[in-house]
Amino acid sequence: MVRVNESYLKLKAGYLFPEISKRVNLYTQNNKKSEVIKLGIGDVTEPLPKACRVAMSRALDEMGTTEGFKGYGPEQGYYWLREKISEHDFQERGCQITSDEIFISDGSKCDSSNILDILGDDNLIAVTDPVYPVYVDSNVMTGRTGRALQNGTYQGLTYLPINANNKFLPEIPSSKVDILYLCFPNNPTGATITKEELKKWVDYANYHKSLILFDAAYEAFIQDKDLPHSIYEIDGAKNCAIEFRSFSKNAGFTGVRCAYTVIPKNLVGFNSKDQKFDLWSLWNRRQCTKFNGVSYVVQRGAEAVYSPEGKKEVKGLIDFYMENARIMKNKLQTAGFIVYGGDNAPYIWIKALDKMSSWDFFDHLLEKACVVGTPGSGFGLAGEGYFRLSAFNTRTNVINAMERIINI
Ligand code: MLT
Repeated sequence: MVRVNESYLKLKAGYLFPEISKRVNLYTQNNKKSEVIKLGIGDVTEPLPKACRVAMSRALDEMGTTEGFKGYGPEQGYYWLREKISEHDFQERGCQITSDEIFISDGSKCDSSNILDILGDDNLIAVTDPVYPVYVDSNVMTGRTGRALQNGTYQGLTYLPINANNKFLPEIPSSKVDILYLCFPNNPTGATITKEELKKWVDYANYHKSLILFDAAYEAFIQDKDLPHSIYEIDGAKNCAIEFRSFSKNAGFTGVRCAYTVIPKNLVGFNSKDQKFDLWSLWNRRQCTKFNGVSYVVQRGAEAVYSPEGKKEVKGLIDFYMENARIMKNKLQTAGFIVYGGDNAPYIWIKALDKMSSWDFFDHLLEKACVVGTPGSGFGLAGEGYFRLSAFNTRTNVINAMERIINI
């Protein structure tokens, strides 16, 4: 008799974004009064940069010739893309990350979850609360937590609350944890971390021989020149951190799929006899067995992000979404909402009105304004009473959505 992975049975609810879609679909079936504007999932809306399209189209033509045809590519990604990443995303910022420390993948969501394959089951794990739900759910699915408690948290995980009182910066845990997930600019709150604050985490991790899983998927949205784009801008981070990066949000690749993960060569973990093993080799072994790489065509598209035209177009996209964020923040603040984020991230984090719960506010906005956002409680217990709005949409939709919200 086939048995299921019972860890899946511990999951409290469906994954957040399909759950929202389900509710919105139900609503639209029964209400046709006005078009729903979706500021829920952080999915891009603007067309792909021309530089990327031209590069992908050229690569496709190449594949149609005998000389240019490519079969399986390197599991780690093509050398030329990794070289460009190393040079532009790291060396230019003074981070000594080399091309062979970069693994190309089809998404940061997958990598931030798959990384658990090479990490022991008995690590003590800390996440912020609220948090990108993938980190929590993938720990539940792989049996690294206890059961779900009534309040939606899971036994065995350490939750580090982030809220207005601590400026959405988690406090360093008072006891030792082995794995820490940090995401800056933060999804969902839009908060950022300074180099000084990040240094405290790096020092903590090095002191305790812990590992930081640093999700920098939104680094391109940083406007403040002093904020770090990579954890490797911090001394000592190469000894304690893995970084996840993505082309989804900067170059509009959510449907194209390309991302990368950095595993420094000197990063180590330990077995039960306290012997050291390098994580790079374990991840390389994992990828060679379970992954056949991202398509040649897509990697050529990603490479074009680093061309002069590509850089210019990506900047145009970032400026466009950040102007959306500015409009949203301004309109909502003027209307009396308490608003966070939106300055260095494409997410606006607001307090639900009249002490409503996050899901009540979701229903309220959907019914009264035909606008969809993401309930803060979907990101964790401490997100209750908050609501996330995404700046990824057309200018018209953003302006209309704000008008509708403030005129409820
Ligand atoms: C979000 O809305 O939080 C993101 O789109 C999720 C993701 O990038 O997977």
